[in-house]
Amino acid sequence: MLKVDNLNKTFHTAAGDVHAVRNVSFNADNGEMVAIIGASGSGKSTLLALLGLLDAPDKGSIDLDGVELANLDSGGRTKYRSSQVGFVFQQFNLIPNLSARENVLLALEYSHWPKADRARRADEMLALVGLDGEKSRRRPARLSGGEQQRVAIARAFAAQPQLILADEPTGSLDKSTGQKIVALLRSAASTQGATVLVVTHDEKVASQADRRLEIDDGVLAEIA
Ligand SMILES: Nc1ncnc2c1ncn2[C@@H]1O[C@H](COP(=O)(O)OP(=O)(O)OP(=O)(O)O)[C@@H](O)[C@H]1O
Ligand SMILES: [Mg+2]
Repeated sequence: MLKVDNLNKTFHTAAGDVHAVRNVSFNADNGEMVAIIGASGSGKSTLLALLGLLDAPDKGSIDLDGVELANLDSGGRTKYRSSQVGFVFQQFNLIPNLSARENVLLALEYSHWPKADRARRADEMLALVGLDGEKSRRRPARLSGGEQQRVAIARAFAAQPQLILADEPTGSLDKSTGQKIVALLRSAASTQGATVLVVTHDEKVASQADRRLEIDDGVLAEIA
């Protein structure tokens, strides 16, 4: 269970303070898929960055399965990011000088997936997103935007993380590939018991979620 309590993040800019996340509290169960919706600039990516420990909140608490993440030391934070969280970023964040397959293999290595099974697991995930064979040997720059997005998804799901944080995961995909990705998100929750938080403007994705949360100018509310 993910328990978020009174999370706050303010950016100090030359133009003044931006309260990107304001007093955000919510819970999400293991096995639950939650859609987060909201206008551009409302604080969705900032919230995911806080939950993934990529950025530190000004105040508030994040508890995953009884562990208060603010109390982790730097080794604990690294371990959390590499083995318990699967990220799908808006900018994909693939490593440019590694092939698609090597990107997935590296994530498996960081998460301490058994060495003898990494190649099999990487190929299985790449096949699931429709990127097996020759394309999996290409570097990101030689793949289309949608293909890079699929590599990022294969990488995020490979090590079966407890928490999946996906930022517009179907943004550059066609309808049928998008549906495959939605099915992957859904089954990560339903069959692996992961908590899936997905930022989306796509009604197809949102309709598969168990709940919807809307963020408006940093303030989060449940949509009935
Ligand atoms: N590093 C930063 N420094 C200063 N301001 C920032 C920073 N990151 C985000 N912001 C500001 O915080 C607010 C929330 O940004 P955020 O990226 O979380 O929005 P978003 O909901 O993900 O938008 P989009 O749908 O366009 O991706 C915006 O006003 C943005 O300009
Ligand atoms: Mg964003």
